[in-house]
Amino acid sequence: MKQHQQHLWWQDGIIYQIYPRSFQDSNDDGIGDLKGILRRLDYLRELGIKAIWISPIYPSPMADFGYDISDYKGIWPGFGTMEDFDELLRQVHAAGMKLILDLVPNHSSDEHPWFVESRSSRDNPKRDWYIWKDPRPDGSPPNNWLACFGGSAWEWDEQTKQYYYHAFLTKQPDLNWRNPEVEKAMLDIIRFWLDKGVDGFRIDAMWHMIKDEQLRDNPQNPDYEPTMATYNQLLPVYSTDQPEMHAIVSRMRRLLDEYPERLMIAEIYLPVNRLVAYYGAPHQREAHLPFNFMLISLPWEPKTVATAIDEYEAALPDDGWPNWVMGNHDQPRITSRIGQQQARVAAVLLLTLRGTPTLYYGDEIGMRDVPIPQDEVQDPQGLNMPEKNLSRDPERTPMQWDNSGNAGFTGGKPWLRLDRTWMRVNVQQQKQDKFSTLCLYQRLIRLRQQEPSLMTGAYRPVYSDHQVIAYLRQSEGYAGFLILLNLTHRPCYFRPVNIKFKGRVVIDTFPEQESLQVENTIDLGGDEAMVIKLEQWQ
Ligand code: NOJ
Repeated sequence: MKQHQQHLWWQDGIIYQIYPRSFQDSNDDGIGDLKGILRRLDYLRELGIKAIWISPIYPSPMADFGYDISDYKGIWPGFGTMEDFDELLRQVHAAGMKLILDLVPNHSSDEHPWFVESRSSRDNPKRDWYIWKDPRPDGSPPNNWLACFGGSAWEWDEQTKQYYYHAFLTKQPDLNWRNPEVEKAMLDIIRFWLDKGVDGFRIDAMWHMIKDEQLRDNPQNPDYEPTMATYNQLLPVYSTDQPEMHAIVSRMRRLLDEYPERLMIAEIYLPVNRLVAYYGAPHQREAHLPFNFMLISLPWEPKTVATAIDEYEAALPDDGWPNWVMGNHDQPRITSRIGQQQARVAAVLLLTLRGTPTLYYGDEIGMRDVPIPQDEVQDPQGLNMPEKNLSRDPERTPMQWDNSGNAGFTGGKPWLRLDRTWMRVNVQQQKQDKFSTLCLYQRLIRLRQQEPSLMTGAYRPVYSDHQVIAYLRQSEGYAGFLILLNLTHRPCYFRPVNIKFKGRVVIDTFPEQESLQVENTIDLGGDEAMVIKLEQWQ
């Protein structure tokens, strides 16, 4: 048997995203915190994940729940103290895991001292740290750009009689990355956390960071439909993904590379060909993992998904490591997009594809989007566009741990209401039930982490039709795996022509099927996905 080729921790391992407000409260104020995360480290270790990515924990007015930072080198008191953070980092490392912070370099809070200074007068030294522009002659904003959370992206400042640009909320002014002082300050912040021993960063909104120098108007989007966010009325061709961005990312990467094995993940919503550009080139490396959101954005249709996987594999640069994301704090949960049963099929897909999977907290127990009454909506995206059903609160509800009060999340009043099903959908219940989604995840993770073929082996597409996707995973010298996924609720057959195969089902969304010997033809039930250890494939 050949020696399994060495990979880095972020290639072998699985990333788990924690939305800190909602994971575990330790002081009964209804909001999750760092001590709460610490309390749940054993759960994460048992689950088998390698790295925890925590959404922002810095001081913040919380207009966008932490994505509006007022001090990049501190901890929001609601989450704890710097001592709590240091302790968490120590314990994460002691448990053999890694900790990834969320960094938001595109914008700060309007309450950050930098912006307070910047807006104080036109000749303040920090004026040019943000994007200030004169109005057009008729007093209107400098161009037609729209904010992601609704309305114009320009906010008028009465005191200094100029507009400032904000890609998100008015309380999130965009930093001016054309100013080298901004870059210097941000690199200094990155270094601060790296020196503490943080293992990497998930960089927020990376494709927004540089804007067209001439600030040209964005064109209309011919495919806009009124159900979409107003932001989508225009195509953001001049406000995002500008060529100058790549040099900046590569300088960030160079800084990370001064430290051993640190990871840069980039949040980028772009079509595949432009996404993969953010891996950089051999002489100018950029992000290790530009987040691949295909499984979030594509329709759950087997041919579409299979084709997208192939396109992604083909588009990757030679040394670009793939990654897959099924959910996050900005998107409806997988169960609410494709249903509970198909979400189990999706789990098999996510954990058997080639590349680093990122799990969103709660998906491993099949949490669903929770209906939040209108008068309890907290998310600014939901509040600003109430008629569009775009609130992100439903996918941010407290983790369901057990059947004690508030699912074991808090002894106080949770900041967002829990799903009514928490008494039966929770970690404690599912641990005891071998048919549960949690057990499915745990076993998939265990198998993936034991089997080089699944962890880092090659991906080979085999077949897809209107119901099924089939592919192989194989490391040289090891038994390979055939993965079969039925993306529909109806039974179907897998009968490849001119291929003879033999194997044993090792994991199935219907565990009754496990240990079954299979040969040449397989019939799959509706919502069934199987991982087959191959003895023969020719
Ligand atoms: C992306 C983050 O994931 C989202 O939650 C946030 O609202 C925006 N960036 C702005 O920071």
